[in-house]
Amino acid sequence: MNLHFTEEQEMMRNMVREFAQTEIAPFVERMEQGEFPRPILNKMAELGLMGITVPEEYGGAGMDFVSYIIAIHEISKVSATVGVILSVHTSVGTNPILYFGTEEQKKKYVPKLASGEYLGAFCLTEPGAGSDAKSLKTKAVRQGDYYLLNGSKIFITNGGEADTYIVFARTDPNEKGSRGISAFIVEKDTPGFIIGKDEKKMGLHGSRTVQITLEDAKVPAENLLGEEGQGFKIAMANLDVGRIGIAAQALGIAEAALEHATAYAKERIQFGKPIAEQQGVAFKLADMATAVEAAKLLVYRAAFLRAQGLPCGKEASMAKLFASRTAMENAIEAVQIFGGNGYTKDYPVERLFRDAKICEIYEGTSEIQRLVISKYLTKK
Ligand code: CAA
Repeated sequence: MNLHFTEEQEMMRNMVREFAQTEIAPFVERMEQGEFPRPILNKMAELGLMGITVPEEYGGAGMDFVSYIIAIHEISKVSATVGVILSVHTSVGTNPILYFGTEEQKKKYVPKLASGEYLGAFCLTEPGAGSDAKSLKTKAVRQGDYYLLNGSKIFITNGGEADTYIVFARTDPNEKGSRGISAFIVEKDTPGFIIGKDEKKMGLHGSRTVQITLEDAKVPAENLLGEEGQGFKIAMANLDVGRIGIAAQALGIAEAALEHATAYAKERIQFGKPIAEQQGVAFKLADMATAVEAAKLLVYRAAFLRAQGLPCGKEASMAKLFASRTAMENAIEAVQIFGGNGYTKDYPVERLFRDAKICEIYEGTSEIQRLVISKYLTKK
């Protein structure tokens, strides 16, 4: 594995780092108040960040997957909210169309998603089908040139803001397992596609998470993605890649916690010297820094494999499992190092603490990542 980034990747890091500091950081408080960062996404679109890995022929920047992961990592150091919006839009909102769509579907939707004119979302989870995704109950029944979709979806990131939704529904009522599931591209204005309640979340306050109801939602047959029955594989294949994005988001949170805690510990004087020089705190910082480096290696290894078109499912799950645990642990330690100040909203570590937790839950809980990894270890 090459441990050096290319010149192009370093340029991406510098560009995104500067953008995050100058544009995203001043917007963080507004997101904390619940504002969706539309102005930030518009600026990201101007920089080509809404279609980093989309080939130029479909209106994207045509860059490699590692550059995309660099962008999520750097953005999430400043705002995990913007990080998840970009990750969901790209990995599970745009890529399913790019990789499984017909030429017509790609031409119709991908340039709009890549330019940021459209935002993407992904509707897999249901009230009775979270970790056990293949037990989903939303139904799609073909009627002439349309499918009628009925069911409910929950925890839909970017929901209510997105223009296109990749919706998973059961087309074969006799097939109870994964092979009866199909994927559809559903446009926001589809009759019967109803945006429901906004979840009030612990963290990621600027990112919208909604419930969606489908009541005879009339989806043109030409919006079936792939073939009937292929939906679950489309979901899983895109989650493999999506999980590297969430791992990069977690890495950003973990690194931000380390950087804030180190800076604070160098300034904060107790017992006559900076707390960073007191062993109890110094050792915490050492452990946090070591975990960040280990997470970085896992995240970028998965990204390098993906960039080369090599299998990366196991590595993606390992990266997400470890990086999200590191984000949580580092956020806990950062709050501890900040002491009473860390428990207030005057300092950033309180937000990191709340934002970190979801990384261990969405795009597959840590338990599901262990399940995926162990399946790779035991399969013949
Ligand atoms: N790629 C392609 N196909 C795959 C695959 C993969 N990575 N993983 C499984 N499959 C295929 C299998 O080959 C199998 O196909 P056949 O029937 O042809 O043999 C089929 O899918 C079923 O596989 P399993 O029997 O292994 O399925 P399972 O039910 O035992 O386990 C699971 C699958 C890994 C637990 C899966 O259900 C899972 O990942 N659950 C978590 C769901 C999840 O991550 N949800 C995230 C929601 S999106 C989100 O969170 C976005 C956001 O807001 C940020």
